Amino acid sequence: MLKEILNAPFLIEMIRTEMNMYAHGWDERNGGNISLLLNEEEISEYCNVDKFLRVIPTGFKAPELEGKYFLVTGTGKYFKNVQYFPERDLGIVKLIDEGENAELLWGFSDGGTFTSEFPAHMMSHAERLKVNPSNRVIMHCHPTNLLAMTYVHSLDEKKFTRTLWQMCTECFIVFPDGVNVLPWLLCGTNEIGIATAEKMRTSRLVVWAQHGLYGAGADLDEAFGLIETAEKAAEIYLKIAHLPILNTITDEQMHLLEKRFNIKAREGYLN
Ligand code: 13P
Ligand code: ZN
Repeated sequence: MLKEILNAPFLIEMIRTEMNMYAHGWDERNGGNISLLLNEEEISEYCNVDKFLRVIPTGFKAPELEGKYFLVTGTGKYFKNVQYFPERDLGIVKLIDEGENAELLWGFSDGGTFTSEFPAHMMSHAERLKVNPSNRVIMHCHPTNLLAMTYVHSLDEKKFTRTLWQMCTECFIVFPDGVNVLPWLLCGTNEIGIATAEKMRTSRLVVWAQHGLYGAGADLDEAFGLIETAEKAAEIYLKIAHLPILNTITDEQMHLLEKRFNIKAREGYLN
């Protein structure tokens, strides 16, 4: 007997996360998308994995992900509304045919499909899993301050990272691997997917200039927390950038943080 899927912890957590992201102002209209890697055991309690509703072509190959299951947001759907229409606005898919097709097991009940950023999500999952097999989440959103920062700050990755690290002590502890930055690229394409995944090899945060941010994490909370921390730093930057700066967090102090928290700054990023 299958359990009611609307009670599945992974679905509840996904809906809560989307609501929270919306409340933070990161996901206006249909902005943002999330994919969560699920394992077969956890899905099998709620849906029959041998039966699918339809097959959706992905438009790319990701052989590493063949046979993997994802809970993913639908294209054009509003995070604001997911709590009222989870079966319409979310879907559970299984990648088949080396990732070229996806079996829809549940959701997208209005005939819809997964996010237009599915290539960036799947290619990023493939890369993050190589770095850290416990990575399960890719999260994209449009956080106001980080987005604003991409208009007035150099997009040089080292400079961008160092500025964020200096805005708040916790930043360095939360993302010692820094943030990577992509210039403006056409969204929703395989090209931006490939570029994002490549950047995901060395950092769990990838800024899309004049568009938004990608975060990766072991679970929804971790990816959310990562984005929240970077966005807070960007907010502080925008509050102080136009003022005379009298104090900062020095490289020496960041070296102290490295020792205290047993972390290592991205190679070459500290003096
Ligand atoms: P989707 O509605 O297709 O998920 O697109 C939203 C978005 O943020 C595009 O980058
Ligand atoms: Zn977007």
